[in-house]
Amino acid sequence: MKNNVNIQRRKLLKLAGISAAALATFPSLLNAKTMRVGRHASPDFNPDIEIKLTGKVKYVPIFNGPQTRVWKVIGEVLKGPAKTITNEKSYLAPTIRLHKGQKVRIYLNNELPSATILHWHGLHVPSEMDGNPMYAIDHGETFVYEFEILNRAGTYWYHAHTHSLTAKHVYSGLAGFFLVSDNEEQSLKLPSGEFDVPLVIQDRNFDQQNQLKYAGGMMMKMHGFLGDQILVNGTPDFELPVATRAYRMRLLNGSNSRIYKLAWDDGTPIKVIATDGGLLEHVETLPYLTLAPAERREIWVDFSHKKVGTELTLRSLEFSSSGMGGGMGMMGGGRRGGMMGGMGGGGAHAGEDFSVLKVRVSKKVSSHDVLPKRLSKITPLRLADAENPHSPRRITLSMRHMSALLNGRSYKMNDIRADEIFHVNTLQLMEFDNGFHHGMGGMGGMGMPHPMHLHGEQFQVVKREVRNKSGKGYASISAGFLDKGWKDTVLVMPGEKVTILKPFNDFTGPFMYHCHNLEHEDMGMMRDLLVK
Ligand code: C2O
Ligand code: CU
Ligand code: CU
Repeated sequence: MKNNVNIQRRKLLKLAGISAAALATFPSLLNAKTMRVGRHASPDFNPDIEIKLTGKVKYVPIFNGPQTRVWKVIGEVLKGPAKTITNEKSYLAPTIRLHKGQKVRIYLNNELPSATILHWHGLHVPSEMDGNPMYAIDHGETFVYEFEILNRAGTYWYHAHTHSLTAKHVYSGLAGFFLVSDNEEQSLKLPSGEFDVPLVIQDRNFDQQNQLKYAGGMMMKMHGFLGDQILVNGTPDFELPVATRAYRMRLLNGSNSRIYKLAWDDGTPIKVIATDGGLLEHVETLPYLTLAPAERREIWVDFSHKKVGTELTLRSLEFSSSGMGGGMGMMGGGRRGGMMGGMGGGGAHAGEDFSVLKVRVSKKVSSHDVLPKRLSKITPLRLADAENPHSPRRITLSMRHMSALLNGRSYKMNDIRADEIFHVNTLQLMEFDNGFHHGMGGMGGMGMPHPMHLHGEQFQVVKREVRNKSGKGYASISAGFLDKGWKDTVLVMPGEKVTILKPFNDFTGPFMYHCHNLEHEDMGMMRDLLVK
């Protein structure tokens, strides 16, 4: 992809700060720095779809009373079908719907009071289009993304990715769904239109004036932010009226750091049909779903045998967060009396039981939805095809006072080390080690769950090993893990090691890997790897 970059002299001066050594190991830096001023459309790129996304400060109604100041992305279709973009009433960024093979050009206009950039989470796009923090644009600037949708159908999403500000920006509203369809998926005739429901689950704190609060010291950062108000699609006390038929629900954990243990209150098992990177081979039935930040699961829910008037609640069940860093996330303070429905007293701990959303059967229809026996074909990646079948790239996850580290390092722009360089068009065996080798004891009690995410292509989980399977914290959520299919984020519990096979095809350049607990990410638990 050609960079058609508008070079401004004042910005170029920033280049003076870059060492020759850095440029030698990381040649795209030159482009990156100039692209700090944004990026223009390339005349060589012929988009099927063109959209404009503008980030601006807005007031939206969330509660009765004063509207809430949020950072909102407004979308507009410049070329292509209007249904490509759905602007949301809440603070959420618009839902983007595209089809595999489409070429899209996206103008991002930053009218926010901060530098920002958007990342397409889960999409396989060129490095320059990936929303790396080095491309953050200032207020008044525009970044033009141009890429082809190479991913299979799936529930992807997008969000801000500005270094050290990602948590704050996403919290303020800069995140939305990015739904991809393809022919294989469409041939299945899954519930569509109003029966295909994207649901993003987030937790927030509000003050008495209905304004978002995001404050907290080092303890909050170490444990991650936990809000005491649950919102679904930006709405508190979310209720979904449904008809007596089957639904496809796309669940996204868009929270900064909260892990959910999702289950229906009547004990109905959960039928999972898709994960981060799209459809599974066939449905997987689980008693509950463990959903870590950034993860997605699509579920098939059939209300056809329910009576009109039936109510069902999707809850996050209690789980043990001890042995996950103890006392994690006592945020307290500023709870909105009466708004907490079922959150219990004393603030929102990790692992509390609370209601997430309610479904009300409100309409009788006749339909004959049959969940397809076979959803898709997932070709397993083979260890024998890996470049390093016997020597996995090991990434150790650790937390020390005031820092969250990957292989003992914290984030620095343009700081790629030898063990972070990968050959393009290779398959790599990698492992995330969260105290598996050293044991929890050696971690000063700071063992924490880390939802680990890699940019670029989706990967497959090879195995999950745990030091203490019967450990209370582990046992209370492990039946909700689903490691099958294509993944871009995997939860690595304290004492665990998760081994993956990760393809690095097509695109060279820097790609991020990081913990998707956004407070951890901002504290430095993020690195670039370089594909070359
Ligand atoms: Cu959703 Cu780099 O992240
Ligand atoms: Cu991502
Ligand atoms: Cu983490």
